Amino acid sequence: MKPSIQPNKIVVLSGSGISAESGLPTFRDSGGLWKQYSWQEVASPEGWATRPQAVLDFYNERRAQAWVAQPNAAHLAIASLEERYEVVVITQNVDELHERAGSSHVIHVHGRIAFARGTSVPPKRYRLDAAPISLGQLCEDGTQLRPDIVWFGEDIEHYGEARAHVATASKVLVVGTSLSVFPAASLATLARGRAEKVLVAFDVEKIPYGFKFLRGKAAALIPTLAENWLRQDKAGDLTASETVS
Ligand code: APR
Repeated sequence: MKPSIQPNKIVVLSGSGISAESGLPTFRDSGGLWKQYSWQEVASPEGWATRPQAVLDFYNERRAQAWVAQPNAAHLAIASLEERYEVVVITQNVDELHERAGSSHVIHVHGRIAFARGTSVPPKRYRLDAAPISLGQLCEDGTQLRPDIVWFGEDIEHYGEARAHVATASKVLVVGTSLSVFPAASLATLARGRAEKVLVAFDVEKIPYGFKFLRGKAAALIPTLAENWLRQDKAGDLTASETVS
């Protein structure tokens, strides 16, 4: 028995592309992080085990960048939807730009760069803001502090909660993700047939079934989409994706 769709609920699934116009790098675009670094070396448990300093250096630099970045028009437009809708932002991003833009319900499935954690289970977490982690800096449980990030090969966080939200949304907006990393990317396929589904990016591996694809910059396209959704009456007769040029 499928859960009922909540008519006033929007779920946003975002990726690094939404933060690109805030000056933060994406991963797979030309010039992206995985074109400059090997993810095996800096974003995997194996990399952490063999060269922890390289991992700390990689995330210390990204933490400092993320700390000074500002939310852009796309983050702000998504936050403005809370004037009328219940909005759940499920993000693969580790920056806090959705929160700084005013979104009040943000689920980070790949961790948060502003935090560190120990390696005990369950881990103890510490807010760093922009501060670096150094080798020898220990958690109170005595283990070496590590970035509070989900590395390749590690379990995604809040996955069950994220799945449940997508399955009950009446509108699903996927923005700034190549949909190439699973299981996060599979969340888009859980959007219900009757839900309004919009995908904003430049290029994606595969457009999920039923999604209207709007190619372009998030900071240019999302404000118009949000404006249309805020103007839609209960009947939803103004289908936003048909009006965004
Ligand atoms: N506006 C909209 N979309 C954009 C913009 C922009 N200004 N700039 C780039 N994009 C799009 C690109 O076309 C691409 O489809 O954003 C997407 C970025 O894709 P990736 O670089 O693969 O980033 P992402 O999908 O977030 O990666 C997912 O991979 O490495 C892991 O954990 C990491 O969370 C990350 C995950």
